[in-house]
This record gives sequence, structure tokens and C-alpha cells, in this order.
Amino acid sequence: MAILKVARLGHPVLREISRPISRDDLLSDEVQRFIDDLVETMREYNGAGLAAPQVHRPIRVCLIEVDGNARYPEFPQIPLTALVNPEITFLADEVIRVWEGCLSVPDLRGLVPRRSKIRVTGMDRHGEDIDFVAEGVFAAIVQHECDHLDGKLFVDRVEDTSTFSLIQEFQRFRADEPRVVTD
Ligand code: NI
Repeated sequence: MAILKVARLGHPVLREISRPISRDDLLSDEVQRFIDDLVETMREYNGAGLAAPQVHRPIRVCLIEVDGNARYPEFPQIPLTALVNPEITFLADEVIRVWEGCLSVPDLRGLVPRRSKIRVTGMDRHGEDIDFVAEGVFAAIVQHECDHLDGKLFVDRVEDTSTFSLIQEFQRFRADEPRVVTD
């Protein structure tokens, strides 16, 4: 397996609309190896998720995993979830605000409003249909990763730009604030 290079803010690949991938292509050895590398890369850099365009490959594949994450110690555990050609339907008007970061925007945090409850459909990495409901932080991370597939970054979603904070200052000045804010 290989650790892939992560594109950073300003690289045009992060602004592309990623293309869907067919079940046949997904099941090819080459794409399965790529997904293994994507998992390895997410874990290497302590991402709570990672999307294929972030490693310079604009296909509609993304991952989510939270397992005692050093960058997000406050997040709940989320088992490794691979989403292929995901589609999101909002199930609630309720919004939560989550302090987000991104491996493509190193060291930055910002408070992002996300829908609190969503339905997710698409395929898993083995080409099986998936259809599940996600809530809270899990829903927020799915929305963050799916945004990557449409060329959107969390910095575009921050409503109150005064919340932008570098990670060291975030830990210094906002250590006592809840990481997920419900209205
Ligand atoms: Ni990201």
C-alpha cells in the first residue's frame, strides 16, 4: 500500500466536479488498490475522512472513519465507511454547527453549519448498494466528504468567518467550547 500525496487549498483538483465510477471500474484491481491507498493515507494523516479528489483523483469515492482520532478527540467512534457515487437527502431542517478541519486546508478550523440528519445512498467499495440514515457528527462528516466530490471545501461553508482559527490558537482559546453546537 502507498501513502498518497494530499492536494492543498488552491490546487484546482479540489474544485473539480468528480465523475461517477461504474460498478465494473470500482471492482477492478486497480481501483480497489487505490481505495486501500486512500484508507492508508487517511489513517496516516489522522483524517476523519478523505475524498478521492484530495489525492488528485477526481472520482466519486470518499471515506469516513473516526477511531480515537488525534485531530478530533471529541468525535464519536465511526467505523470505516466507504461511499461510492453517494447521494444525500436532507431529512431534517435542524442544523448543527461543527468545528471542522480538512487535510487539504492544514491547521485551520472553522465552525460549519450542517444538516443534523441525512439519508445516504450509493454503493460501498464492493459495489453493493447502500442506504442508511446518518445523524449528528457522522452526518456532518458525510456532508463534508461529499462536498469534496462537488469541488466544495468547508471554508466555503463557514458562515461566520470570525470563527476561523489556526489549530494551536483553537486549542489555546477555544479548548472549553463544545465541538458540536446544537441550536
Ligand atoms: Ni476535507
